[in-house]
Amino acid sequence: MKKIRILGIESSCDETSVSVVEKANGQINILSNIVKSQLDIHQDFGGVVPELAARAHSDVIDKLIKMAMDKSRLSFRDIDAIASTAGPGLMGGLLVGVVAAKTLSSALKKPFIAVNHLEGHALSIRLETDIDFPYLLLLVSGGHTEFTMINKFNSYKRIGTTIDDALGEAFDKTARLLKLGYPGGPEIEKYALKGNELRFKLPRPLIHEKNCHFSFAGLKSAVATVVAQHKCTEKFKKDMAASFQKTINEILYTKTSYAIDMFQAHQRKNRTVKIVVAGGVAANKSLRKSLEKIEKERDCEFLFPSIKYCTDNGAMIALAGIERFERKLFNKLNFKPKPRWPLDKKAIFMKGKRAVGH
Ligand code: KG4
Ligand code: ZN
Repeated sequence: MKKIRILGIESSCDETSVSVVEKANGQINILSNIVKSQLDIHQDFGGVVPELAARAHSDVIDKLIKMAMDKSRLSFRDIDAIASTAGPGLMGGLLVGVVAAKTLSSALKKPFIAVNHLEGHALSIRLETDIDFPYLLLLVSGGHTEFTMINKFNSYKRIGTTIDDALGEAFDKTARLLKLGYPGGPEIEKYALKGNELRFKLPRPLIHEKNCHFSFAGLKSAVATVVAQHKCTEKFKKDMAASFQKTINEILYTKTSYAIDMFQAHQRKNRTVKIVVAGGVAANKSLRKSLEKIEKERDCEFLFPSIKYCTDNGAMIALAGIERFERKLFNKLNFKPKPRWPLDKKAIFMKGKRAVGH
């Protein structure tokens, strides 16, 4: 059987990453996965500065392509197609990756594949685990929070999302209020380890609504109110981080149980529900542990990619490229990057909407 080898480029946010992934005899081999984080550039600002991000991607993209090729020990002749994240994300960064991929594609006369970044996260589990569709995806990243049923490749039905902030955003904003570093998620996780999670009772928006939608803006405002009433001591930071994380865990626990109900109702066969948790926030160990408790109550199994494949990486983009290559889903060189690009094209835009009834 022929081997498929794809070069994958990721540059939609604050990580530049290039990877070569191979599929040989049904087996996935990650030949290289080079990641250059822009942490040092954005941390003083407490968030990603789009213009600086774009410049930083363009500064390193050519070097990273060379590093990924060298590490893979292949030559461009061995590569079957070039895949790049083409949305959703920050336009400046997307343009850097897409133009690099189109240039290679044109020079090498190999197909160009425009990958939806969310599809990369959705498939990332398959880099290491041989899991088949259908599965339920809980995607929790800096820009997205959604439950999506994946019945087969390229068939996405979103059953829940956030009506305001994404979960990663809630972590980052809370970390900023507590004067912790950027990105906030790992900092909150670290502080929470040493804090009293019962000290602050925070709101759990929408938790009593029997649907799979989220809201995190009110939670962040509640944190801001408590912060304003206290001295920001190390003890306070630890207790607040722990209380915040516990609240998040409770919200996700409840909403994931609802999502399992919906997924089961959709499946004709009565089989164990597989839930893949992906995206940067899926790196959180306390969240992983909390969700796994559902396995004791329900016929379900949680699957988490390794931490390095939860946060943004080129390997997941190359893998999405392999799936598309196999189906000859190529794109023309005039493909325009899309800053907004939902996985489920029929899903309605929920930001600012009341979740009831959807
Ligand atoms: O998937 P990702 O790398 O980029 C996007 O596509 O957005 O996710 C980044 C987000 C950030 O908000 C970051 O704070 C969060 O993932 N994150 C975490 C952890 N590691 C990263 N959140 C909670 N706990 C973590 N350990
Ligand atoms: Zn991402």
